[in-house]
Amino acid sequence: MIKPVDATKTAAWKTLTALHQDFKPDMRAWFAQDPGRAERFSYEMGDLFVDLSKSFLTDDLRDALVQLAQEVDLPARRDAMYAGEHINVTEDRAVLHTALRRKDTDKLTVDGQDVVADVHEVLAQVYAFAEKVRSGEWKGVTGKPIATVVNIGIGGSDLGPVMVYEALKPYVKPGLECRFISNIDPADCAEKVKDLDPETTLFIIASKTFTTLETLTNARMARDWFLGALQERGISTDGAIAKHFVAVSTALDKVAEFGIDPANAFGFWNWVGGRYSVDSAVGTVLAVAIGPDGFRDLLAGFRAVDEHFATAEPAQNVPMLMGLLNVWYVNFCKAASHAVLPYAQYLHRFPAYLQQLTMESNGKTVRWDGTPVTTQTGEIFWGEPGTNGQHAFYQLIHQGTQLIPADFIAVATPAHPTKDGGVDVHELFLSNYLAQTAALAFGKTEAEVRAEGTPEEVVTARVFTGNKPTASILAPALTPSVVGQLIALYEHITFTQGIVWGIDSFDQWGVELGKKLALQIAPAVQGDEAALAAQDASTQQLIRRYRSLRG
Ligand code: F6P
Repeated sequence: MIKPVDATKTAAWKTLTALHQDFKPDMRAWFAQDPGRAERFSYEMGDLFVDLSKSFLTDDLRDALVQLAQEVDLPARRDAMYAGEHINVTEDRAVLHTALRRKDTDKLTVDGQDVVADVHEVLAQVYAFAEKVRSGEWKGVTGKPIATVVNIGIGGSDLGPVMVYEALKPYVKPGLECRFISNIDPADCAEKVKDLDPETTLFIIASKTFTTLETLTNARMARDWFLGALQERGISTDGAIAKHFVAVSTALDKVAEFGIDPANAFGFWNWVGGRYSVDSAVGTVLAVAIGPDGFRDLLAGFRAVDEHFATAEPAQNVPMLMGLLNVWYVNFCKAASHAVLPYAQYLHRFPAYLQQLTMESNGKTVRWDGTPVTTQTGEIFWGEPGTNGQHAFYQLIHQGTQLIPADFIAVATPAHPTKDGGVDVHELFLSNYLAQTAALAFGKTEAEVRAEGTPEEVVTARVFTGNKPTASILAPALTPSVVGQLIALYEHITFTQGIVWGIDSFDQWGVELGKKLALQIAPAVQGDEAALAAQDASTQQLIRRYRSLRG
């Protein structure tokens, strides 16, 4: 095993520490004294225009960060990931989500297997299935075509599909609706199925392991609802499951145990992490919704960013620079969180998706060799679409005491060009996107506040210090390819940070503990006295209170 480099012991870290000692961001001066700043710190990657000029980037800082990338062997670790080395050390697995979007003419042999050929074999199955459902050739038990597809999964088997489905609503086949059940709270399943027609509903059970309590419980509840609803209509249930339930999993044996015909199961591999799986068969619901061509376009977007990350010089490499900047924010500027603010309503689930991607990946206290981390890791990612967030939490970003770097994402061409009294509404929307980053960067001085005739006693309350770092990402339109590009961008940002911190960004042992404990506590909740007595005092008290509330 290659040992992680301790970033804090590198020469670059020393340089960064020295830079930070004198670091006084002054965006007004930076822009005034450097007319080339906006252009110099802006980049093009695929369809994405990425303006980092209102971030904390300076030439010195960029050079030191790039040196850090070299010293922690980031390019070599990236190449190792792309080549299928077992960089997921704690699970002894390759990390090959980039293989999911390689062209079918590529070849990549890993552990003796051509993984690109495997990927395209499954893609062909997924596409054939999607075409059948979309064309109406796939029929339900009473011979009707499918009108609603319900994806049942959680975490990576839910967040990616639901986020992309929402992002690409204008591309969804008219007349087809997709729904997503994830929470084991029975309210989720009940609400999602209550008005469905069982004869025209298809369920996709998506679970990498096919052991996840939430997903299997929801799958059983959905199956019970489905069979019951057919029976209520006097329809025979013989052979009905095969026509209304398909599965996506790496554990095809468990799929069969559940009662789903293995012919209706789409596989993937343990080298695809759950949170990196939306572009595997986990995206089957998307292939149905937006069609194989749309899905191919999504994959092409991922691929464009993969190629950029693999080949662009570090100083021009967008995911690398953004990941390295995040290291600067977290480790030197002490930022504890990072906001992602899409100015695109269709991206309203993007921050939630990123929370799993970034926080399940980089929320670690030990490095991949088992030794403690040597610096802070894993900032909190959060956000909401603009402009809604402006009227909620932006106050804290503008004038709070915490530093919150923020990424602003917008598209030029709206899905719904609309005028209000002759004014293009999308342009009003984009004016907000632009105004916010300008306000965060340049603020408002006391003199400016006074010059507006503000009463002296409220002048300081109205001062904006500015110098709040942002990244502005602008895409031509929210196409499947652009959505793929955005996801891959953040995948590689996350990877970059993980390598600097020396952590395994591809395991999630913390979550595994919660999964096990829930199973262990369940009997106590259900009335087993011996199991109850084995719990801690607080848990016992809560269970007793719960049981008395339930009567
Ligand atoms: O939440 C933990 C986790 O293991 C995620 O990493 C994963 O995406 C999710 O559970 C669902 O797992 P599965 O796809 O195996 O059901």
